[in-house]
Amino acid sequence: MEEIKKEIDESKQGQTTMLDSNTEGARKVYIESYGCQMNFSDSEIVASILTKDGFNTTKNLEEADLVLVNTCSIREKAEQTVRNRLKSFQHAKKKKPEMMIGVLGCMAERLKSKFLEEEKLVDIVVGPDAYRDLPNLVQQVDEGKKAVNVILSKEETYADISPVRLLSNGVSAFISITRGCDNMCTFCVVPFTRGRERSRNPESILEEAKDLFNRGYKEVTLLGQNVDSYLWYGKEGLKKNFDTLSDEEKAESMNFAQLMEQVALISPLLRVRFSTSHPKDITDEFLHTMAKYDNICKYIHLPFQSGNSRVLEVMNRGYTREWYMERIDKIKEIMPDCSISADIIAGFCSETEEEHKETLSLMDYVRYDFSYMFKYSERPNTQAQRKLDDDVSEEDKSRRLSEIVALQRDHSFEINKNYVGSVYEVLVEKNSKRSDDELAGRTSQNTVVVFPRKDYKVGDYVKVHVHDCTGGTLLGTAVE
Ligand code: 5AD
Ligand code: SF4
Repeated sequence: MEEIKKEIDESKQGQTTMLDSNTEGARKVYIESYGCQMNFSDSEIVASILTKDGFNTTKNLEEADLVLVNTCSIREKAEQTVRNRLKSFQHAKKKKPEMMIGVLGCMAERLKSKFLEEEKLVDIVVGPDAYRDLPNLVQQVDEGKKAVNVILSKEETYADISPVRLLSNGVSAFISITRGCDNMCTFCVVPFTRGRERSRNPESILEEAKDLFNRGYKEVTLLGQNVDSYLWYGKEGLKKNFDTLSDEEKAESMNFAQLMEQVALISPLLRVRFSTSHPKDITDEFLHTMAKYDNICKYIHLPFQSGNSRVLEVMNRGYTREWYMERIDKIKEIMPDCSISADIIAGFCSETEEEHKETLSLMDYVRYDFSYMFKYSERPNTQAQRKLDDDVSEEDKSRRLSEIVALQRDHSFEINKNYVGSVYEVLVEKNSKRSDDELAGRTSQNTVVVFPRKDYKVGDYVKVHVHDCTGGTLLGTAVE
């Protein structure tokens, strides 16, 4: 089934995005992105910073003067993919010795200047909060030095930078609303690589969304490691405890539900998505806001990681199995048509066979549309690496993962079959991969629908009657 990602290492990590060239100019930058949507979004910020500095973007590695790789550290395999890719650049560099190679993102932050020693090929190492410094770093390399900036910031949100939307189909775009993460899940490297959580000024978010809509975009996805903890404190800045604010300050503040409402109000023709939600922070207020606006897509990515309360505690997730189930019940009560997906980790430290079975039974309870499923991969310097034993054997991890994958496949198939026979509004995003006579788009629930083109085009909203499904894709015909 297409939608089932067996292991995100193979799926998300494989996605490589090359920026196309835009204007005539001197030096050319080529960017590849790996990992989460946030990295893809960050690459657009990087492209913006560099184009302002006189660079053009290119899709062609061979003609690039500057090659940048935006990297992911979430699992060991993700890092290995990047290392292999860096090695493969050697060929291009041999042909063009003046080519600069830079590493951006989480691996840059994790390894810092060690990267320069380990990977002799690399000239520039830049962490996620230091992209504004790229023009200076390039200049340092021009002067014959190696260049590193991995300083993390408590404030940087790149709020004023208008991303270069070269990754997009002209229909949907990402808008980052928070950076970093304060949750400290024990398995996760993100709090170390992306730093403290901070929320972006809502005015700049709304401006960006309005601008996209005015330029013809029909869908925005609000991005953050934990969008539910979005909180803007108004003029007073980054106070942490909401309860300590004065009434006046509280009135000036904006939470995620309120931000979402403002974005939804830009136009009923602008679809709004968001990722990622956190079970401990997703509020009823937010769910009611979602339900109130048709243009807020009825789809929630709500990672649960494990279905067992003891394992969740060891993971420091901040909720129990029962809490998670209650949140699911609430979602289904308020929005019966809402689809839900999850992230699941198989074989975390000390997980027993019975505890693993509770992951399967939680999947049975929720019935996810799809899931991203992983084997636990120990990451350097995380709480789990320092304090816990990675004691589930590789064999058990693999078997548990394959049980999870098989169950998800059954659920996805059942759910897709239930969509057959109904009419859904589809936002057309591209030509179908199968044929130029067909278009592909997504329902509000995030399911891909393919249907005969007729006179419709990319960017149209089309009512489609679904008559069949193959794997993760629904097949239909447009109805007038
Ligand atoms: N091993 C396996 N999966 C992990 N994730 C995060 N850290 C690890 C790790 N060390 C998964 C979680 C998270 C998703 C983005 O990646 O499921 O939600
Ligand atoms: Fe990592 Fe947990 Fe933060 Fe997600 S919420 S980025 S899993 S620490």
